[in-house]
Amino acid sequence: MSDAAAAPNPVLARLLERQEVQLADGRTKPLFPTGLRAHRGAYLFDLIRRRRPALTLELGFAYGISTLYICEALRQNGTGHHIVIDPNERTHFDGVGLRHLEEAGLSSLVTFYEEPAELRLPKLVESGVRLDFAFNDSDHLFDHVITEFLFLALLLRKGALLVFDDVGLPGVARAVDFVAANRPDFAEVGTEPRWQTLFSHVPPPPKGLRAFRKIADDDPRSWDDFTPF
Ligand SMILES: C[S@@+](CC[C@H](N)C(=O)[O-])C[C@H]1O[C@@H](n2cnc3c(N)ncnc32)[C@H](O)[C@@H]1O
Repeated sequence: MSDAAAAPNPVLARLLERQEVQLADGRTKPLFPTGLRAHRGAYLFDLIRRRRPALTLELGFAYGISTLYICEALRQNGTGHHIVIDPNERTHFDGVGLRHLEEAGLSSLVTFYEEPAELRLPKLVESGVRLDFAFNDSDHLFDHVITEFLFLALLLRKGALLVFDDVGLPGVARAVDFVAANRPDFAEVGTEPRWQTLFSHVPPPPKGLRAFRKIADDDPRSWDDFTPF
């Protein structure tokens, strides 16, 4: 089956079929590499369907491809709400993601903040938000990924999942390696014993993504801990 035929809603099917997005003035831009690849979107869709999270969040909106997969899964679940953060949605991406959500009838499931993640996430922590799932497809610079992780770790409940995109890029890879080596309150999906994968409703992610489960309420490290990685 083609990616378009397997897409979970008609807007995604059309985008994958044409492999381009349309700007407000009618011009078109290629869907890739900005938009999330179909097999990665399908993984997010499947996770949200299996786990039925109440509150989800993503960093990095752009064309809204990942958002369409996540929100379509929430719609099919019949429950859940999604927070999206991106400072450049209208300035760099012509509001394309917002129009895709509108067209798919998914706008009401989303709260959108047009701000940098590093400024919005601490405000969400302050207001007591607790997440069941987060997807990070934001800036791919090492210091951004680490900064965002610091706040996401505070926002995620025990048992919640955190998925990173583009883990093949050096800045993301290094930051995610830090999390894997230095945060005992997070366990990487796929490195767990096989029985845990089978019974947890969390399949290992495809190439390009890495997924973690928050397994403790608090970070148990001593103030001077550091595991070389
Ligand atoms: C690869 S694109 C996201 C693609 C999107 N997930 C999709 O499937 O269409 C990366 C996005 O990160 C956003 N971004 C860059 N810096 C950011 C920041 N500080 N906070 C949040 N998002 C940021 C960019 O504006 C861009 O939209």
